[in-house]
Amino acid sequence: MYDYFEIQAKIGITKHMGGLEATQNLLKWCKVDNSDHVLVVGSGNGVSAIKIHEMTGCTVVGIDLSEDMVIMAREKLKSSETGVKFVVGNAENLEFSDNRFDVIISESVTGFTDKTKSIPEYHRVLKHGGFLGLNEVTWISNPSREVDEYCRRVMGLMAETEDVWLSLLMESGFKDINSSVNRMNQWKQMKGDFQLQSMDFFKIWGRFFNLYLHETEYRKSANHLAWEALHIPRGFNRYYGYGLYVGQK
Ligand SMILES: C[S@@+](CC[C@H](N)C(=O)[O-])C[C@H]1O[C@@H](n2cnc3c(N)ncnc32)[C@H](O)[C@@H]1O
Repeated sequence: MYDYFEIQAKIGITKHMGGLEATQNLLKWCKVDNSDHVLVVGSGNGVSAIKIHEMTGCTVVGIDLSEDMVIMAREKLKSSETGVKFVVGNAENLEFSDNRFDVIISESVTGFTDKTKSIPEYHRVLKHGGFLGLNEVTWISNPSREVDEYCRRVMGLMAETEDVWLSLLMESGFKDINSSVNRMNQWKQMKGDFQLQSMDFFKIWGRFFNLYLHETEYRKSANHLAWEALHIPRGFNRYYGYGLYVGQK
């Protein structure tokens, strides 16, 4: 069976909560401009990383643990595009020298990592005075054990409350931290996803149906995930939100 990210990587879909608007807010709060060298950690299908380059003119390196994701992301680059590149890499052990990047953006990734390894790594590779911008799944209030266990088991996601995210950033040496926590809004989310993925939306569904019809392993895995989605614990949406966190080195 394919896991949560393998199912997504095979059709080239990834997303983060809050869509394009959340990305724009992070860019504003991190003061990104065309002179910046930006690391996008967990760049997934590459859409957000490419938008970050297009909207600001900054140069971008996107890294992702999944080789399939990196291949999908590279396919989106025009041959003349030199301002963005995608490489395989692990947030917990970044293969970059110290003080390398002006800004790090990571959207819906750090919650899937060992945060005691990834956040210190973000601090290490940032230049002094550089900004870290995170968009991470944040519990609006302490979740029930059932909800927390569901996220860990089905998605491998270890979400935190706002206080815990703030402590993790502070413990790794970030200062002047600002945060804003938002509830999930399904309609706004669908609009934001569509703005980011645009025409790729149709390609993604095309790949999905092709795999679903022709690959048994994929069909079994997708059916299993759909079954899990139908058995989401009660009250899930009461707890589930996202937080934007910006700190400076
Ligand atoms: C929910 S997706 C978000 C992708 C992208 N940031 C976006 O907004 O579309 C999470 C991504 O994090 C990647 N990922 C998970 N653990 C990682 C790690 N330790 N290092 C780098 N990437 C990781 C996954 O492969 C996946 O592409």
